[in-house]
Amino acid sequence: MKYIFGNWKMYLNNDESVTFAKEFKKEKLKDKNIEIAIFPTALAMISVQKVLKKNGVEFGAQNCAWAPKGAYTGAISALMFKEAGCKYALVGHSERRHVFGNSNEDVRKKLEAVVSAGLIPVLCIGETKEDKDNDKTKYRLKKQIMEALGGLNVSGNRIIIAYEPVWAIGANNPCHPSDADDIHGFIKEELKKYIKEDVAVLYGGSVNADNVAAYVKLETVDGVLVGGASIKIGAFAPLVKAVRNSI
Ligand code: PGA
Repeated sequence: MKYIFGNWKMYLNNDESVTFAKEFKKEKLKDKNIEIAIFPTALAMISVQKVLKKNGVEFGAQNCAWAPKGAYTGAISALMFKEAGCKYALVGHSERRHVFGNSNEDVRKKLEAVVSAGLIPVLCIGETKEDKDNDKTKYRLKKQIMEALGGLNVSGNRIIIAYEPVWAIGANNPCHPSDADDIHGFIKEELKKYIKEDVAVLYGGSVNADNVAAYVKLETVDGVLVGGASIKIGAFAPLVKAVRNSI
């Protein structure tokens, strides 16, 4: 099984999201060996599901609160996303960490909330350019994994990791597939300290239809988390086809 997850970030409004969904449906890209999930904005979640739910597409939250309910103005809980038909939730995306200041501690709290709501967290980890330049990639990943997963009770099929080097996101500067292979191998070894079953590890950062095959062909790469190339049907449909043709 390979995963293709499309993170729409704050790019598409409700009408644009529905238009995308209708175009995507026409492409008939369902494949039993591929799990496709879309992470629309919260406002478009229901309307996009109405179009795509019966087409084998799953849905996820881009971010959620760590509390289940209460006086948290502007927040939406993991439980609410679950009730709204989601299967997944991104946790610790680099934009939440670096633009909105989420700490490893916040990430951990959200992870617990997502797991207890019955959603599958997609825990995003990745080093900054500065980490990379200072040879601290593995140190950073190890720390992020330890602070997220230490003492967490979750089985391997109820969590997904996304390796997203911060310097590769939205930058047209993908991590070389052989480097991604090496780092995914490292991540999988680290994960064994916390979770006994195999955990899927996705690659994210400047993935597109032209380079996706080089990642998904790797045994260490269980799929991709796609931002920019997931918001236009002319980019996303060829990406899904490229995965289909390469596995
Ligand atoms: P990108 O974003 O594909 O635009 O680099 C990936 C992500 O942020 O998940």
